[in-house]
Amino acid sequence: RRQLLLGGAVAGAGAAVAAGADALTRPGVAPPSAPEPLAGAGTVPFHGTHQAGIATAPQAHATLVALDLHEVTDRDALRRMMRLLSDDAARLTQGVAALADSEPELALVPANLTVTFGFGPELVRRALTGSAAAPSWLRALPAFTVDRLEAAWSAGDLLLQIAADDPVTVAHAQRMLLKDTRSFATVRWTQPGFRRARGSEASGTTMRNLFGQVDGTVNLEPGTADFEDLVWVRDGWLAGGTSLVLRRIRMDLDTWDRLDRGGREQSVGRTLSNGAPLTGTHEHDEPDFEATTAIGFPVIAEFSHLRRARSEDTGQRIYRRAYNYDDAPTGGEVSNSGLLFISYQADVDAQFVPLQQRLDELDLLNEWTTPVGSAVFAIPPGCAEGGYVGETVLA
Ligand code: HEM
Repeated sequence: RRQLLLGGAVAGAGAAVAAGADALTRPGVAPPSAPEPLAGAGTVPFHGTHQAGIATAPQAHATLVALDLHEVTDRDALRRMMRLLSDDAARLTQGVAALADSEPELALVPANLTVTFGFGPELVRRALTGSAAAPSWLRALPAFTVDRLEAAWSAGDLLLQIAADDPVTVAHAQRMLLKDTRSFATVRWTQPGFRRARGSEASGTTMRNLFGQVDGTVNLEPGTADFEDLVWVRDGWLAGGTSLVLRRIRMDLDTWDRLDRGGREQSVGRTLSNGAPLTGTHEHDEPDFEATTAIGFPVIAEFSHLRRARSEDTGQRIYRRAYNYDDAPTGGEVSNSGLLFISYQADVDAQFVPLQQRLDELDLLNEWTTPVGSAVFAIPPGCAEGGYVGETVLA
């Protein structure tokens, strides 16, 4: 009886043998089988038409790093830097140590690592020659009334989005890449984020943010014609690339705590249990915006995030790929948490800005959310083996 309670492993090898075949069929004791492939062995190709880390299924961990270029980093230096960084990324993402890797053992667990490079307005200004032009949307976003932006979380010349299913892999890749940026740039900010650990839920499960909401139900889907049309840029040196908007949005969990479950569900227009619209039962049911309550109010309120974030213009859709953040609370706070809201779209001004303007005008969720950081980057296309990210503007 004691053995059964403790289990073979705790009771020791002798006990496991004494328990015999019986132990192998006990609930909770896995029968011997072929070793499962380790999640850490997974790799995502670095080379291709598009950079990895966008259409890639979101990994559990991501750190975004922005750098400021040194004054002296000119176009030739940018080319040298991007060659070096692309080489590092090509190796590390395949589980191979970077050149002069100081901890090569840490490179052996790629865990679906992707490294995505983004160029801020100043980097592009230094890179451009001849008739090549910067996209008109590559600048700080217009000011929104909800914004309480802090320089510490905003802007930047070069972006590294480093994502993997293992946080040690992310940390190692970050260190190796940053070592190679040292003579060109300095770190401006780093923003780590996370989702559920790989394997905790079936893959493909929509993520939950720290309000507990199912977040990401209605989204562009990689592999679809809409995704191709609305995410990738078609012309010029950015063809095959896209844009990344990062909004660091604080979520006030301490005041959210005071709201009852009904109020929480009203603010978005979806249930907390499975993310179904308040007019439906399953997560992916179409919301019915016409439905009214017995006393005539809309079931999905006019001020709900769901209604406000959905434009009638289908060209205004974006691809969201967010991560949670959870920092140390300060003062009397219990939490200092939020969302690294990350969206990709072919044209920031045509897609993201009108959407954010609608939410700025009206969205009940604004009561508990505050944007504290903001940045826009051009994401160049991917490169072939032997090439480097940025070659379409730096070669
Ligand atoms: C939908 C949460 C900020 C755009 C949703 C949903 C939740 C949510 C729970 C419903 C499920 C889904 O379809 O994903 C949040 C939170 C935010 C935030 C907690 C801030 C911390 C934003 C921002 C934008 C945005 C800044 C864009 C500017 C959207 C869009 C949808 C959506 C486009 C889908 C709407 C549709 O059904 O067509 N958000 N969101 N969200 N959100 Fe947000």
